[in-house]
Amino acid sequence: MSSVGRGVMAIPGVRAAGRFVADWVDLQWSLLLGQLRDVAPLARGRLLDVGCGEKPYESLFAPFVAQYVGVEHEATFTATEASSRRRKPDVLYDGLRLPFEDEAFDTLLSIQVLEHTPKPADLLAEMARVVKKGGLLILSAPFSFRLHEEPHDYYRYTPHGLRAMCKTAGFEVTEIRPQGGLWSVLAHKINTFLAFRVGALEGVTQAMGKLGHEDARPTTPRFWVLPLVAPVMGCASAAARVMDRAVPDATEALGYLVLARRAL
Ligand SMILES: C[S@@+](CC[C@H](N)C(=O)[O-])C[C@H]1O[C@@H](n2cnc3c(N)ncnc32)[C@H](O)[C@@H]1O
Repeated sequence: MSSVGRGVMAIPGVRAAGRFVADWVDLQWSLLLGQLRDVAPLARGRLLDVGCGEKPYESLFAPFVAQYVGVEHEATFTATEASSRRRKPDVLYDGLRLPFEDEAFDTLLSIQVLEHTPKPADLLAEMARVVKKGGLLILSAPFSFRLHEEPHDYYRYTPHGLRAMCKTAGFEVTEIRPQGGLWSVLAHKINTFLAFRVGALEGVTQAMGKLGHEDARPTTPRFWVLPLVAPVMGCASAAARVMDRAVPDATEALGYLVLARRAL
């Protein structure tokens, strides 16, 4: 986190207000969060969040489950900004064999993780092993998203690929929901360029508690470009929300949310 970012975020109210606005503008985050809010009541019993990072979804799922356990791949997690934050995974492991008994969980959550392992089929098979038969899998993976958490960024996923991989691992997919459409993809890419390449806002964004999955980015923001850049970003996000409804294009999405059950 940059010292400028830290200084600005220390001003009372600035962090919360900045985070609120940044979350709304960040279409990937707000679309994903809306979907997770919607499906959280389906969760039951013991939940395992695979690749939990700093457990940003715990508060959404906690009311519906008996226990929320977050597990992380130690080597990749410790390289991220999230590892220096307050909320920690409950369990760290080698990224190969999940350190739990067979059928130990009722619900699995895995959000934006499948692209970060070189052997996604093996990770899905491990997830199938540790969930009860009939247990629920809630998984999200990107289809169109910039390179991130490099060099551990290996794949992007189509709905057909996700369905096939889940089936091979022993899950029956009940639903796949797209995250936005063409307009969200376009707006998200433009906004990412404006925020990070033009505004150099990575440090400030991390100081707000976002971008935890990246390594530390101590960038010094170009505050003087914000009067121009911020309104464009806000308009792009607002327009994308409208256009995705008015002129939908089912061949584009930022990513997909999968709901599946472990086969009986
Ligand atoms: C983009 S971050 C997502 C973190 C969190 N799920 C979230 O949505 O904020 C991807 C995470 O996957 C973790 N990861 C990579 N390979 C993994 C594996 N084999 N098992 C569990 N987690 C893994 C990384 O350490 C990283 O924290």
